[in-house]
Amino acid sequence: MLREPHRGGGGSERLIVVSNREPFEHYREDGEVLVTRPAGGLVSALHPLMRRRGGTWVAWGSGNADFEVTDRDDGVRVPPERPSYRLRRVRLSTDEVQGYYTGFANESLWPLCHLRLEHFAYDPRQWEEYRRVNRKFAKAVAQEAGGEKATVWLHDYHLAQVPALLRSERRLRLHQFWHIPWPHPAMLDALPVAPALVRGLLGNHLLGFQTESAVVNFLASVAAFVPGAKVNDRRASVRHRNRTTLVRAYPISIDVAAFERLAARPEVQAEARALRRRLLPQKGHLFLGVDRMDYTKGIPRRLEAFAAMLELHPDLGGRIAYLQIAPASRSEIPAYRALERRVVAAVEAINQRFGRKGWVPVHLQRTNLDAAGLAACYEAADVCVVSSLMDGMNLVAKEYVACQRDGSG
Ligand code: G6P
Repeated sequence: MLREPHRGGGGSERLIVVSNREPFEHYREDGEVLVTRPAGGLVSALHPLMRRRGGTWVAWGSGNADFEVTDRDDGVRVPPERPSYRLRRVRLSTDEVQGYYTGFANESLWPLCHLRLEHFAYDPRQWEEYRRVNRKFAKAVAQEAGGEKATVWLHDYHLAQVPALLRSERRLRLHQFWHIPWPHPAMLDALPVAPALVRGLLGNHLLGFQTESAVVNFLASVAAFVPGAKVNDRRASVRHRNRTTLVRAYPISIDVAAFERLAARPEVQAEARALRRRLLPQKGHLFLGVDRMDYTKGIPRRLEAFAAMLELHPDLGGRIAYLQIAPASRSEIPAYRALERRVVAAVEAINQRFGRKGWVPVHLQRTNLDAAGLAACYEAADVCVVSSLMDGMNLVAKEYVACQRDGSG
């Protein structure tokens, strides 16, 4: 039975945002319930919008105290300090998380879309879990909409089956944004369920990608894997089972003004100066990297480049330092744990080889920073290094530029 819909604030048409990752996680530490903001581009991009617009955000309740703070419909108002929208949490079992998130989303789709076939794996049981969890998300969305008109805005590669599952809900406008690259169909061939994956997305009225090349690859994938679908390349649209899906590129960005304001705060400025004093005892240049610990980010090669620079220019000793912020990510996956070990070892090796009393060349921080802490790092750094091997749209570059108040970075 459908319950009374929960109203969001803001515009007239109801907005329901849906993603795997939630914008706030509640967890228990020393008997207390605390709240944290998960790292990653998707949450950073969407939260400011939801704060202003209001509505409902449906996401996996991944925190160990998430359901201690929710109402009887698994919802909670956020942000905790100044609630402006509803977060509806989806409960997942350990097996579901393993098959759907760790498995199919992050060991099949993520490496495939980032062209890292050496990390790609496929297991049909994980695909079954993925479908089961997508059904759970679809049900939660239908409940939140309560049979009324709403715009549903789905996000990313965890939810590719949801649009097809919501097709019969006639009052819903289904939009989806794919935050990562979409590969050439020859690459998708590695995935036995590619046809079902593509068909799932054709339940959308509008499907967005970061780049034109992803749009072109998607249309080619429809032609290759869904024989009954009519692709109109000129209009970038697809007609399939009585629905037209428009496919468009919308490169996402950040809330520039919010970063500018943050960087201008006196306490952020003070922290930036303190950071420089701590990492650069003499006058010199501070390099910065900000990434999740992910094999798509090219962190080991960046470290190699930094070491090569020190080797070629011994005079830079003591006059440059490199701060790499890399919060642990998806540590349940062996490839991510191996990367972390490799990065830690590389940092130690560089520091041993080039460092000396009073000067440490590379600093690795493996925990996430809050927005002000991050702005202080951006403000302090002379050079921000963004060297992903493949990215949907890297927001770090934009955040760094926004925080460079004098344009000197
Ligand atoms: C990328 C993905 C997001 C994801 C984020 C963090 O930006 O596009 O969907 O939320 O990485 O990864 P995680 O697995 O921790 O959610």
